[in-house]
Formats: sequence, structure tokens, C-alpha cells
Amino acid sequence: MQQSYNFPADTAVLAKIGELVANAGRSAGFDDIEIGDIQLALDEVCTNTIIHGLKSDHSKKFQLVIQWNQGEIEILIHESGEPFDPMDLDDPNLENLLEGPSAGGLGLYFLRELMDEADFRIGRDGVKTWRIVKRKA
Ligand SMILES: Nc1ncnc2c1ncn2[C@@H]1O[C@H](COP(=O)(O)OP(=O)(O)OP(=O)(O)O)[C@@H](O)[C@H]1O
Ligand SMILES: [Mg+2]
Repeated sequence: MQQSYNFPADTAVLAKIGELVANAGRSAGFDDIEIGDIQLALDEVCTNTIIHGLKSDHSKKFQLVIQWNQGEIEILIHESGEPFDPMDLDDPNLENLLEGPSAGGLGLYFLRELMDEADFRIGRDGVKTWRIVKRKA
């Protein structure tokens, strides 16, 4: 199954996205705890997309694609705002956190903890894509 949506860069859409992914996760056979993890991970990517990537400009949009089979869900988030390379970020290690604000927040760190795969690419057209995947253990 696959669903595709376009959303404006407005944090008001986050609740709807949480609902959509919970429904998809449920039909893929994930339990409530796994669905909570997927929601948290997707919320983090979408929040970054809206706030950092598109600067909360409500006239700009990003695309969300949710695809699933039994026991597996893959989510793509496409956006063409501010250029960004997650490889440039500092690790959110204890030292960095104690030193105060650093280039790397905790969001991307948790993303990798919550999902089985989380990768990022920038296309030649400048479109940035996050791809996050979770599978049933
Ligand atoms: N889609 C994006 N486009 C541009 N910059 C981004 C994007 N996603 C993340 N970033 C940059 O990467 C940094 C780290 O992101 P991360 O989510 O880890 O932390 P954060 O959003 O600053 O804080 P939080 O811990 O609240 O999530 C951000 O501060 C931002 O500069
Ligand atoms: Mg963040």
C-alpha cells in the first residue's frame, strides 16, 4: 500500500500526520509501542522539515509518502528548502550537551534509535529526502 500527501510548512499539520502514520502502521501490523516510535520519529523529521528546512513559510509545501507491507513501513519526506547535510552535525555526546547548544540537536540522534533505517540524500534538483524504515522484530 502507498499513500502520498502534500502538506504546507505549518506545524498545525503534525497532528494529522501522526494520525495518518498510526493508521498505516496499524494496517502493517505494528503494536502500539512500535507505532509510538514511528510517530515520534516522523514527528521529528517533519518538525525539522517545517521549521529548519522551510522556515515555517506556510506557502511552501513538503511531500510525505507512506508505504507499507505486513511487518514493514517505509516513509519518505521530500522537501526543497534550506540546504543541509546531517553529516556536518556534531554527535550529541555528553560533552557537547554539557557545553551548551551545539550544531547537533537530539532529534536526529533519536531518529536513528527509533527506526531501523534513517537515511538522507539531496538530489541534483536540490530536493532533500529523508527515508525512514521500521520492521517488526
Ligand atoms: N530539513 C532540514 N533542513 C535544514 N536544516 C535542518 C533540517 N533538519 C535538521 N536541520 C539542521 O540540523 C540541526 C539538528 O537537527 P535536530 O533535529 O537534531 O536538532 P534541533 O531540531 O535543532 O533540536 P531538537 O533536539 O529540538 O530536534 C538543526 O538545528 C538544523 O540546523
Ligand atoms: Mg529537530
